[in-house]
Amino acid sequence: MRIDIITIFPGMFAPVLNESIVKRAQEKNKVKIKIHDLREFTQDKHNKVDDRPFGGGSGMVLTAQPIFDAVAKIKSQSHLPVRQAGKVITHKRIPTPPIASGAKSQGSKVVLLCPQGKIFDQAMAKKLSKEKHLIFICGHYEGIDERVREIVVDEEISIGDYVLTGGELPAMVVVDAIVRLIPGVLGDKNSLNFESFEGNLLEYPQYTRPANFRGNKVPGVLLCGDHKKIASWQKAEALKRTKTRRPDLLTVKKQRRQ
Ligand code: ADE
Repeated sequence: MRIDIITIFPGMFAPVLNESIVKRAQEKNKVKIKIHDLREFTQDKHNKVDDRPFGGGSGMVLTAQPIFDAVAKIKSQSHLPVRQAGKVITHKRIPTPPIASGAKSQGSKVVLLCPQGKIFDQAMAKKLSKEKHLIFICGHYEGIDERVREIVVDEEISIGDYVLTGGELPAMVVVDAIVRLIPGVLGDKNSLNFESFEGNLLEYPQYTRPANFRGNKVPGVLLCGDHKKIASWQKAEALKRTKTRRPDLLTVKKQRRQ
């Protein structure tokens, strides 16, 4: 997968994306992540990326030109490796219509991070993890020129019902959630099967050594060695925890079954 992030704060990303599992995913060539400074695409001599809103109102609005040009340049350069028997044999350009035509992406998906977007969840992470090329635009200030939404953006995502200072942290949250789902990124395949939200259940309680910590004992069933018994305890605990903490998840499951 290839991920491009367009931002006015490029320095925010390295400390997060160049650590831990996302760092390893890049080293293993499972994902290629590139950060683009929006100011490098402005035609304004002062590198201005925002302006006052038409019709008045407080705050500034991100202008269309640098974003249109950044997305167009990224799309024109988006080549993906073509593999044969695991080896890269060539790089093929991702087919995409010119932005000026008004047509949205084919090979690349453009995502705007903003509070008005669809609330991000695990199902969206799973869907996005199957894309070949994602371009994230980090929203800012009072908003973004609506023509960016109309012509360039394929999908708008919010990470929750609260307002942050910009789309940078949301972009990192979404990238982290997506990258760990790319096949081969997490070492232990099982860790994806039993985690929270799989099957719309929260994760069951986990314990590790010692079995008795300062008089607080691990549930006896986990020490019995009977894997069937343990699995059924874990399932029951996951259900119990979901019922008390997130009953809404169980309703979603029922609705999906109907
Ligand atoms: N920008 C500001 N707040 C945001 C949020 N909650 N989600 C995504 N982008 C944002």
